[in-house]
Amino acid sequence: MNIIRFSILATLGISIAVSSHASVLTRDNGAPVGDNQNSRTAGSNGSVLLEDVHLIQKLQRFARERIPERVVHARGTGAHGVFKAYRDFSDLTIAAPFSTKSKETPVFVRFSTVIHSKGSPETLRDPRGFATKFYTDQGNWDLVGNNLPVFFIRDAIKFPDMVHSLKPSPITNTQDPNRFFDFFSHEPGATHMLTWVYSDYGTPASYRKMDGWGVHAYKWINKMGQITYVKFHWKSKQGVENLDLDQATEVQGKDFNHLTNDLYNAINNGQHPQWDLYVKTLTPSQLSDFDYNALDATKMWLGVKEVKAGTMTLNKVPNNFFQATEQAAFAPSNTIPGIEPSEDRLLQGRVFSYADTQLHRLGANHQSLPINRPRVSVLNYNKDGQLNMGNTMSDVDYQPSVTAPVSEAPEYKYSRVKLKGTTQQLAISKPMNFAQAGALFRSFSEQQQRNLVRNLAADLGKVKNDQVKHRMLSYFYRADKSFGQQITSAVNGDLDRVQSLAKQGS
Ligand code: HEM
Repeated sequence: MNIIRFSILATLGISIAVSSHASVLTRDNGAPVGDNQNSRTAGSNGSVLLEDVHLIQKLQRFARERIPERVVHARGTGAHGVFKAYRDFSDLTIAAPFSTKSKETPVFVRFSTVIHSKGSPETLRDPRGFATKFYTDQGNWDLVGNNLPVFFIRDAIKFPDMVHSLKPSPITNTQDPNRFFDFFSHEPGATHMLTWVYSDYGTPASYRKMDGWGVHAYKWINKMGQITYVKFHWKSKQGVENLDLDQATEVQGKDFNHLTNDLYNAINNGQHPQWDLYVKTLTPSQLSDFDYNALDATKMWLGVKEVKAGTMTLNKVPNNFFQATEQAAFAPSNTIPGIEPSEDRLLQGRVFSYADTQLHRLGANHQSLPINRPRVSVLNYNKDGQLNMGNTMSDVDYQPSVTAPVSEAPEYKYSRVKLKGTTQQLAISKPMNFAQAGALFRSFSEQQQRNLVRNLAADLGKVKNDQVKHRMLSYFYRADKSFGQQITSAVNGDLDRVQSLAKQGS
């Protein structure tokens, strides 16, 4: 066998030799393995020998198979696809995917649950992540969104506390509504998102059958440097389908990987799911036209017209889950010319946080992994670090240089923004904590409202602290009186106390 392998190596060259390798088991150094079934022992009854380098390597590699799971969004599934522009948006942005009608950009999408760990059931109540990496001809652009249009908080400084309260208790290691409602009872702005999450949108029937939302406003920049604020919305062409509490419980008993299985089966059977991308845009001066802060991530831009920007088709599941889905690193800091973060305080924190956690989770060279590598060449002097797979030949590892000139592209400088005021630490103006939650409740059918109240009561009913429970009830009451009354009755709350708290505005 070895003779055949080495003669192929010699006559046919490396690439064919590597594929012929596949038929012979090797160690990581390429050496053929003589026996993969029996360890090397000292005689028939003697100990296993440390010099069995194959055994030792196999156990060492096995012990190192896990990398840290994502601190949030640990459970996910991904697919490759393509985005096709529906029209030319070059009047508003120089961003590559929107530059020409019908232009195609390859994408990789990862759907996920948020709070629960890597092997957790996909049936559990949670927002769902909807992250898209566009491999554009101007570098990678990541649109890292969710299946719900708003978020719980509006300032990144609160994110670690919120996530701690939602994650398992440090004592019992189980999720506990007493802990997260304690946090949310101090966060009236979360009422809108909680109304979404506790509706049946918190338990989607299929990743194919949910919408995606960018949540934040971003900035589009055109050739003249003009700024347009933009929000993104993926609309599922499969329609939207959610599970009610009974259905979710039933599915969990049968197949708690239902979302992954559904996506993989559909794509493998040639049913390629599609989403239309819609955008809402506002000029900088229009941002102040609302009775809420338009850069607040707890708000939708209700009443602003949506325009179709393109269609995404997912057409291939990854060959290997770990190499693609697990090692994928989506980051709001992966922007391209023509797209910048808005001043949204939550987004500003995210622009730092994802790249930072990925340097820890995957290492300094994670952007060189095949799933993360841009499809354009990368040229800069970020260097070395663990697992560097580069092939650098130059003696010049700095810029500028006379001997190896590498130029900048001044047309892609960041946009310019006028500043006024002082630095400060103050909450945003116009928080409008409850109106959109109420509007959402009233937009639901009676059945959807009943399901929301039942889902919410299942968790809020477990809260032992009366103050926490009644503060939460007063928020739902302030969103909509009927919502507040129904949930108060479902958890045996005291309606007089709820009304009095709502009046005090506490
Ligand atoms: C300040 C607020 C937030 C912070 C600090 C934050 C932080 C993080 C971190 C550290 C990760 C893990 C990333 C990784 O290991 O690769 C993550 C994942 C994720 N976050 Fe956030 N997050 C925030 C808010 C949001 C919001 C508002 C959204 C939706 C619009 C969102 C959507 C996602 C998604 C989809 C993922 C999973 C990406 C993937 O599939 O790999 N996050 N977040």
